[in-house]
Amino acid sequence: MTVLKSRVDTASDEFAANVDAMNARLADLDVEFRAVLVGGGEKYVERHRKRGKLTARERIELMIDEDSPFLELCPLAAHGSQFTVGASVVVGLGVVEGVECMIVANDPTVKGGTSNPWTLRKILRANDIALQNRLPLVSMVESGGADLPTQKEVFVPGGRMFRDLTRLSASGIPTIALVFGNSTAGGAYVPGMSDHVVMIDERSKVFLGGPPLVKMATGEVSDDEELGGGAMHARTSGLGDYLAADEQDAVRIGRRIVARLNWRKQGPAPAAEVVAPLYDEAELLGIVPGDLKIPFDPREVIARIVDGSDFDEFKPEYGASLCTGWAVIHGYPVGILANAQGVLFSQEAQKATQFIQLANRSDTPLLFLHNTTGYMVGKEYEQGGIIKHGAMMINAVSNSTVPHISVLVGASYGAGHYGMCGRAYDPRFLFAWPSAKSAVMGAQQLAGVISIVSRAATEARGGVVDEEADAGMRAMIEAQIEAESVPTFLSGMLYDDGVIDPRDTRTILGQTLSAIATAPVEGTSNFGVFRM
Ligand code: COA
Repeated sequence: MTVLKSRVDTASDEFAANVDAMNARLADLDVEFRAVLVGGGEKYVERHRKRGKLTARERIELMIDEDSPFLELCPLAAHGSQFTVGASVVVGLGVVEGVECMIVANDPTVKGGTSNPWTLRKILRANDIALQNRLPLVSMVESGGADLPTQKEVFVPGGRMFRDLTRLSASGIPTIALVFGNSTAGGAYVPGMSDHVVMIDERSKVFLGGPPLVKMATGEVSDDEELGGGAMHARTSGLGDYLAADEQDAVRIGRRIVARLNWRKQGPAPAAEVVAPLYDEAELLGIVPGDLKIPFDPREVIARIVDGSDFDEFKPEYGASLCTGWAVIHGYPVGILANAQGVLFSQEAQKATQFIQLANRSDTPLLFLHNTTGYMVGKEYEQGGIIKHGAMMINAVSNSTVPHISVLVGASYGAGHYGMCGRAYDPRFLFAWPSAKSAVMGAQQLAGVISIVSRAATEARGGVVDEEADAGMRAMIEAQIEAESVPTFLSGMLYDDGVIDPRDTRTILGQTLSAIATAPVEGTSNFGVFRM
């Protein structure tokens, strides 16, 4: 029997305390999300509506199939920066005429939809997702181009936005631009580089330089329509393939374009029958303790996200601090690696390496559930080769070609974050629970390390350690690292694709596994040299 049996007592005080802690974090998160939904703020949304225009989210809602979900990605981008949270663009996975697409919609209520450094990073992330997963890209354009005050951070790297569009096209991935308004300067290359372009009569304005710039440059006097109006592009320049009467009409045409792509998924189809887990997903709120120092069994998470709670554990008697095994999520087979006791030892690293190789042999996507404080340190472990064993695992993760998804449920510290396929290891998607924390190490440990190092330096100089100053410094560093380790901060830095409600984990994994299956799923046997 491979069905997991839960040992969680949902009536216990501990469980209730865990639920309370998670709910408090979800409530905080809700406040952040509400702020994101307001876009550039009431004043600008009102002005936008008075112009007879739809907001970015309304445009997306019209574009996707009726009553189908939209998985918004990176909604908290730019959190903690000087820019509006959300980074003046809405991106996510939506289904259009039955085709899973990547949708990128500028938010014109935030600084005219201009691209600041975070907008750029978010759009580049969306492009990567489209390319890796072979998803048609729909750009819903209304942008004044570069955010001029921060042009030094946007202009040079921003070239990739346009390069990506043509590389998607060269890979056979369709790119569709619906131009709702201004698409100035660099922005003009979004329709310019897209396979299919829809313009709107008297709304789309696509030019390299607007009337004032042209007058400055050449002295020519012109108006918006002559320079870049939708009708001009549809009838004269040929940049527009279709001329829509209004926004709704543009969306209608956009949907017809997708319908005519004859798009076929190249990955495996899900099992015909999808079985729900035996345990309630709502119980996921009570599994992770508020204090991450308290260990929890990741099988309790697995039991609530995999089909039928059915899990074939691999090497259960070996390397017990990492749980590995096979399951199915929404009909898609997956291999799961989940930290069980926090620390990764040599056995765990070797087990993970073998497991990743096996998943590659059977073309099975991998799911990483993070709760690790990193690889074990200390004499015994260094002498036992913890570095080379950790390196083996990182080698396997880096070179594995089956799709990876990472979910940070608890801690994700140190090289453990790397070995478990952290952001830099290109998982197809990476999400964090509100309970997650990620940094080079825990805040307390990090402050302690700095203190030890600076004490030693003071003593080496023959000085006397000022205990009060040391304690103050430790407290300050601890608070700083703690603030930088939490999911909203990390999400703001685009180190994940979103902070998710634990109860949505299974649904989101199903959506992303399905999107991933748009591209072929193929493993490899080509890894780097394993240092044995
Ligand atoms: N960089 C930074 N901020 C910009 C900006 C840009 N490129 N374009 C507009 N903004 C700001 C405006 O200063 C204004 O800020 P405020 O509300 O704090 O005063 C806000 O965005 C809205 O601009 P506004 O002109 O009122 O909005 P609009 O909807 O009427 O027009 C544009 C939007 C984009 C059409 C218009 O602002 C414009 O033409 N901008 C210049 C575009 C350009 O030349 N870009 C070159 C990029 S290489």
